[in-house]
Amino acid sequence: MPDGNRYPDEQREAVYRVIAERRDVRQGFRPDPVPADVLGRLLAAAHQAPSVGLSQPWDFIVITDRARREQIAALARRHRDEFAADLPGARARAFDRLKIESILDTPVNVVVTCDRTRGGRHTLGRHVQPQTADFSSVLAVANLWLAARAEGLGVGWVSFFDERELAAALRLPEHVEVIAYLCLGYVTGFAPEPELATAGWARRRPVSWAVHAEEFGRRGLPGEEPVDPLADVIAAIAPPDAAAMTAARERQDRMTKPRGSLGVLEEVSVRLAGLAGSCPAPLPEPACVAIFAADHGVHAQGVSPWPQEVTAQMVANFLAGGAVVNAFAAQAGAEVTVVDVGVAAPLDPVPGLLPRKIAPGTADFTEGPAMTREQATAALTVGLEIARDLVAAGNRCLVTGDMGIANTTASAALICAFTGADPAAATGRGTGIDAATYARKVDVVCRGLARHHAVVSAPADPVGVLAAFGGFEHAALAGFILGAAALRVPVILDGVISGAAALAAAALAPAVTAACFAGHRSTEPGHAIALSHLGLSPLVDLGLRLGEGTGALLALPLVQSAARALRDVATFDSAGVAEKL
Ligand SMILES: Cc1cc2nc3c(=O)[nH]c(=O)nc-3n(C[C@H](O)[C@H](O)[C@H](O)COP(=O)(O)O)c2cc1C
Repeated sequence: MPDGNRYPDEQREAVYRVIAERRDVRQGFRPDPVPADVLGRLLAAAHQAPSVGLSQPWDFIVITDRARREQIAALARRHRDEFAADLPGARARAFDRLKIESILDTPVNVVVTCDRTRGGRHTLGRHVQPQTADFSSVLAVANLWLAARAEGLGVGWVSFFDERELAAALRLPEHVEVIAYLCLGYVTGFAPEPELATAGWARRRPVSWAVHAEEFGRRGLPGEEPVDPLADVIAAIAPPDAAAMTAARERQDRMTKPRGSLGVLEEVSVRLAGLAGSCPAPLPEPACVAIFAADHGVHAQGVSPWPQEVTAQMVANFLAGGAVVNAFAAQAGAEVTVVDVGVAAPLDPVPGLLPRKIAPGTADFTEGPAMTREQATAALTVGLEIARDLVAAGNRCLVTGDMGIANTTASAALICAFTGADPAAATGRGTGIDAATYARKVDVVCRGLARHHAVVSAPADPVGVLAAFGGFEHAALAGFILGAAALRVPVILDGVISGAAALAAAALAPAVTAACFAGHRSTEPGHAIALSHLGLSPLVDLGLRLGEGTGALLALPLVQSAARALRDVATFDSAGVAEKL
């Protein structure tokens, strides 16, 4: 019997039950004291945790004194305020509603510390990875947290501290660090779901996203076929919900305003309801713009007056908050995420930058395919995973952005390939080019189309077309749009680069357009061609041709206003307003 050591069913179920029902608790603490013997059992459970080289690097500081807790609560409050000041508008409002600590609401606070030096230099397993000492202390926290649930005690972990400041308040020696600050007390009840999930701040990722077979990227649960994220996402994209759309139209007609007086916004609200499958649809906020950045081999053909290094320099500018996209995102209350999906230069890791480089730039599409099919699929997968992660992190509206010197050339080629448009009609002046450069650019697009004639004329090979012309940002954006649609989250499209990417997405899954809102119409001629092929009408038309996500961000408040009107405006019957005869 290989499972002869298994616990009897009831005990085994109790173990899984305590794991499933452990909650981080911040609400509903009762003032009742925690008896010393109960606290003793919890600390003994914590002390049984595994530790690197059996070094037991933890200590536990038990705090009950009110004055001390008040002093520590003040430290946490300051960090809460600093964090809040850093959040974009919609996130800040959501954060404001969250309770992030219960230092004074709980009778006992327990601090778990770590001494990375305990046991000396020959501690087994710690010599190459000193952080394994910290991991060990975290395991002690986990033991305490689970035991507390079994005792009916709630635990809330507070991390809103400057670690050294807290260490000083606790008189920790220099070599001892704080791992966790825990608030413990009896509670009125345990929530079935994490409070952050109930509050809509973030979602739990399905376990199948987290499990990989043999190597990173081959996702799937044991005993099941490996997950093909792209195929799964395409299969999950469904047409809009007709009943919700009908309900939205009917509600628009009953709202206290003349019928049809919200013009295009009425249709936006109807489409949002159809996408969400509910009327009214949830508000599309918080929103996050993802700027996919990459370089292009076709730059070598002299299609842009800007040097290729500008891609990396602008990425640095986005991350420093200095670009137009940052200004517009701040105005619209949206978060900015930058994705390196193929910038030629190596980029230093910084917060806000997602390193997802497929390769340092594509190849020149006039000489061969811009990328391999594998690279195109990898970039598509990057995009859909980022959509999924941003939605799991609590975003309810995604906004497309791009950066890549020479990417209007790749966009023109993609638009011609997907729509059959004439290169002279689809190619624009991008950042602003003279007549000679423009003629060369049209010729480059023509030569590209001729070279890749076989794939362009082959029926239904969108991945092949993406691979032929690139760029990595187009493929990643196509995945991003597909990912949003699969999760039934609206995605606001920016200009010609997003338009080209959306054509690829729609070629892979035609129903994807139900999730797409055309933020604006760029002056790039190919953009109008792409939008009309997609059947999308731009929300604003301001003569923009910047990219980055700027035009889409300007449309964000329009999409949000349309949703809010459908949700909040009274109807004639509810408000007692007489209707037109
Ligand atoms: C390392 C760590 C630090 C945390 N810090 C905080 C915190 O400062 N404030 C807070 O409200 N929750 C904090 N939490 C709690 C998490 O938000 C919570 O565990 C998560 O939402 C999942 O909910 P659950 O524990 O109920 O399953 C922390 C959790 C961990 C693991």
